[in-house]
Amino acid sequence: TSPLRLGIAGLGTVGIGVVKIVQRHADLLALRSGRAVAITAISARDRMKNRDADLSPYRWEDDPMAVATADDVDVFIELIGGDTGIARDSIEAALRSGKDVVTANKALLAMHGHALAELAESLGRVIRFEAAVAGGIPVIKSMTESLAGNRITRVMGVMNGTCNYILTRMESAGLPYDAVFEEARQLGYLEADPTLDVGGIDAGHKLAILSSIAFGTQVSFDAVEIEGIERVSIDDIHRAADMGYRIKLLGVAQMTARGLEQRMSPCLVPADSPLGQLVGGTNMVVIEGDSVGQIVLRGAGAGEGPTASAVMSDIVEIARGVRMPVFGQPAASLTAAQPARTAVP
Ligand code: NDP
Ligand code: HSE
Repeated sequence: TSPLRLGIAGLGTVGIGVVKIVQRHADLLALRSGRAVAITAISARDRMKNRDADLSPYRWEDDPMAVATADDVDVFIELIGGDTGIARDSIEAALRSGKDVVTANKALLAMHGHALAELAESLGRVIRFEAAVAGGIPVIKSMTESLAGNRITRVMGVMNGTCNYILTRMESAGLPYDAVFEEARQLGYLEADPTLDVGGIDAGHKLAILSSIAFGTQVSFDAVEIEGIERVSIDDIHRAADMGYRIKLLGVAQMTARGLEQRMSPCLVPADSPLGQLVGGTNMVVIEGDSVGQIVLRGAGAGEGPTASAVMSDIVEIARGVRMPVFGQPAASLTAAQPARTAVP
């Protein structure tokens, strides 16, 4: 079988992570994919940047579009970011050129995921995005594959590591929000636009993607009710602790009598529960299915290795020839309102 040829646009944290895994685990990937996986073309803004990986074997393109449309690329991997512009344009160009697409771009998917999925489907291509939600935690494949025999009744969790770091640190150090926000900035945890993190928008993007997959609905970021953590004070945190609770930026998606409810907001969770025990930049996603009951997934929601690990799972799936669309499962069959069970884990 011929190798699966990859073109990577974006060689930052995640892109370089993907290059390193392809180089380090060529044998393992070939074994698990049933064919070799090889990078052919790469692109980023600055060719001269030192990138902590040997990129000399690959053809450099100044323009991501050249990678997206190259004849020697089977799968276009978009790791540039941004919910519009070159990220979206290059993905569309790749699909129209007959490539499958892998991306980690949660902002783009939350805003335009359905249009992109429809375009892919109309062209007989696939678009995969395991890394877009909760980094290294295999939450999308858990729902679409491992829990395929379930009607999902609820998905919830902590999906922004930066907010979890800030809230945890406020409690452990007894510091006010502003001081810890500044600390997080200096540690490089915050997105270039910090409102994406602390305003709950990044986590809202992830929840919109997850709930669409869980409930077979169109991705609708606008339908997510969002409140960030900017107004959580150290007094709130102390009062919660006195009652045996912690404050977490918690996303919840569930079917109610009023339809699909999607909320991302600071919530009280019992301090001794798995969610309450979640410290630092870690993520946790809780999925409830009508057969499996409740499962809890926990791990790194960001970073080079974890995020690239998720990207690789998509590449291997494509190499294996899995062609099922991810959005739209299970085909909008969930019409009956599900009573909202509560018990926060
Ligand atoms: P980085 O900012 O580290 O890297 C972005 C890359 O894109 C850089 O290599 C940059 O080039 C390149 N780039 C930017 N603009 C252009 C352009 N116009 N043309 C060509 N290349 C361009 O981002 P990350 O690796 O952190 O993130 C990539 C994606 O993964 C984003 O969608 C992000 O939301 C998502 N993601 C990231 C996670 C993480 O932990 N970092 C976790 C989960 C998802 P240059 O290097 O030359 O400047
Ligand atoms: N800013 C995000 C977070 C990065 O803190 O979780 C990973 O999506």
